[in-house]
Amino acid sequence: MIPANLFSRFQLIQNIGSQLRLIATSRVQLSESLYVHRDTVENNPDVPFEFSEDNKKRIDAIMKIYPEGHERAAVIPLLDLAQRQHGGWLPISAMHKVAEILDMPKMRVYEVATFYTMFNRNPIGKNFIQVCTTTPCWLRGSEDIMNCLKKKLGINNGETTKDGMFSLLEVECLGACINAPMMQINDNYYEDLTVKDTEEIIDDLRAGKEPKAGPRSGRYACEPLTGLTTLTTPPTGPGFKVRSDL
Ligand code: FES
Repeated sequence: MIPANLFSRFQLIQNIGSQLRLIATSRVQLSESLYVHRDTVENNPDVPFEFSEDNKKRIDAIMKIYPEGHERAAVIPLLDLAQRQHGGWLPISAMHKVAEILDMPKMRVYEVATFYTMFNRNPIGKNFIQVCTTTPCWLRGSEDIMNCLKKKLGINNGETTKDGMFSLLEVECLGACINAPMMQINDNYYEDLTVKDTEEIIDDLRAGKEPKAGPRSGRYACEPLTGLTTLTTPPTGPGFKVRSDL
């Protein structure tokens, strides 16, 4: 029996197999950048932030959705508005503005903005590419997609191109697993990707075009690629198989 404290799990796997063999590795990602704010030239409390007139109207409409006394529940839509207005990222001064509008402590707003990864708290490129590398996408080749993007854009995970056109980020499941592998660019999903599709999408974006979002395999959504396997007959109407005397 091997004492539990003698080997790490990895060492244990190696020793059981009596040979050095890499079974699996996970990337080490530093979470610090997700949670810690440090004042920078472009992101500090003195950088002015004001909502546009159009967004002020939207804010009024959004806040009317919530019952009196519960307007603070609008914090997520307001932060989202601020982020969209500010080129896709959320400066700390915008968080302060949201706190002021909703009359809530700044800390409560920070808590929301740091919890949800949809909020980018540092500048990002015009096209924010998020590649899902969770298991279903990984099994279907997300690593090839990621490598293709790194090579084509000349940047690594978490970086932005020098011209500010693209930011690249590896993310966890984006909920489109049946169309794996997939990536999200700004608000659009690009699904059923191959390396060739990925290159085409980047070329289109560089040329100023907006590539068509959705599956690239020819299917409409997430129906089986080989055609329907269930629900192949017209649905039966009310009363189907019910006794006629009822
Ligand atoms: S695993 Fe990639 S979208 Fe779910």
